[in-house]
Amino acid sequence: MKTIIEPFKIKSVESIKMNSKEERIEILKKAHYNLFQVKSSDVIIDLLTDSGTGAMSSKQWAGIMNGDESYAGSNSFILFEKTVKEIFGFKYILPTHQGRAAERILFSVMINKNDVIPSNTHFDTTRANIEYQGGIALDLIPDKFKNSQIDTIFKGNMCIDKLNAIIKEHGVQKIPLIMITITNNSGGGQPVSMDNIKQVSKIAKKYKIPLYIDACRFAENAFFIKRDEEKYKDKSIKDIVYEMFSYADGCTMSAKKDGIANIGGFLCTNDIEVAEKKKNLLILTEGFTTYGGLAGRDLEAIAIGLKEAIDFDYLEYRIKSIEYLGRKLIEYKVPIIRPPGGHAIYLDAKLFAPHIDPCNFPGQSLACQLYIEGGIRASEIGSLMFGKYSKDGKPILSKNELVRLAIPRRTYTQSHIDYVIEVIKNVYDNRSSLKGLVILKEPRFLRHFTAKLKLRDNK
Ligand code: F0G
Repeated sequence: MKTIIEPFKIKSVESIKMNSKEERIEILKKAHYNLFQVKSSDVIIDLLTDSGTGAMSSKQWAGIMNGDESYAGSNSFILFEKTVKEIFGFKYILPTHQGRAAERILFSVMINKNDVIPSNTHFDTTRANIEYQGGIALDLIPDKFKNSQIDTIFKGNMCIDKLNAIIKEHGVQKIPLIMITITNNSGGGQPVSMDNIKQVSKIAKKYKIPLYIDACRFAENAFFIKRDEEKYKDKSIKDIVYEMFSYADGCTMSAKKDGIANIGGFLCTNDIEVAEKKKNLLILTEGFTTYGGLAGRDLEAIAIGLKEAIDFDYLEYRIKSIEYLGRKLIEYKVPIIRPPGGHAIYLDAKLFAPHIDPCNFPGQSLACQLYIEGGIRASEIGSLMFGKYSKDGKPILSKNELVRLAIPRRTYTQSHIDYVIEVIKNVYDNRSSLKGLVILKEPRFLRHFTAKLKLRDNK
């Protein structure tokens, strides 16, 4: 069958408040052209993130009622730990309140000042946590994959030649760990092949550098491996997942993605020494080792969600539905990162609005227009998110200017997706009217969350 259907029935609904274009223009002005400052009740389709925004299943909600809220040794923790060990195969599991808490603990234990941490592409919180510890976060995507229009599989792979060169340049002592992000969120939601994970692991083992996986979208990555890596086409998602992590020494995870939970995360490792140090930090800032800042009911929801996320029918629907959105946009000549990724579609704002200077945030301008046109909230992944200043105050721009349409799990239906396509097409057809933005006020770290902007006077 060609028609994609959601492999679930809807038991409970949340209504969407509709608003007019005129209202949205005013709302955006008041939010200083920062979509993080817009109230969710003023958004029609919220594609800001797929993180913590998924719909939980009736089984997860039942699990919420079963949550054991004991401070130590709760049954919910026991179920959570058993499930994580079974799926990921690591020895030591620490629950955290979300992914970035796992990152902070990992990097506080492993990084010294001026250490270098290579990855395919670090996510923004990962990068910020590394830099906060005085480390240097390096992205090692093959140059040929930087062209958003190349339609090829496994564009999330790490460049093996670059990894070897970095190890040679900085020396093993300066590299406390290597990371791989699956799927590669900031690089377009592109998957990493099993072959690439294996190759990186081989190098890591050769130099005795621990390999950690940023596992947020591990199930979606496993689906791509099954679909596109010949050797894995008859393997189960569960076996593929287990093999992916067998090549690593540990992982950080945000259960808000492929845990299909509203909150939570964890940190896994096979290294007892690292685990002990991490435990002490966990108790200091997150909570005791059997809850890590989460309620027992959250641990229960995560344990159930992780199993649902590796269900083949669910994954097939999810990836196909996102592919449908991407392929329709390509049909209308809208420039997106090709091929469509795992959890999101990324509009290439440099190609979408070439008349806007990257200094004036074409991605943010496009994201704002999607909101005005159809009440869609998307996020800029470009110079607003990743731009910095040189020592003499000159802007250092991001290589890419993207707008991410992240699709929450099991939340929107196919007709919502058709609406999104129509809105984007309208904005694309009127793209010459898009105007650049300038920053009025910004914080030192993660400026995209709170920066205040205004429209440039002309263009
Ligand atoms: N790593 C990746 C690849 C992520 O995408 C995220 C979060 C994190 C780590 C941090 O996890 O939010 O639980 O602390 N990504 C969200 C997003 C915020 O919208 O892509 P967290």
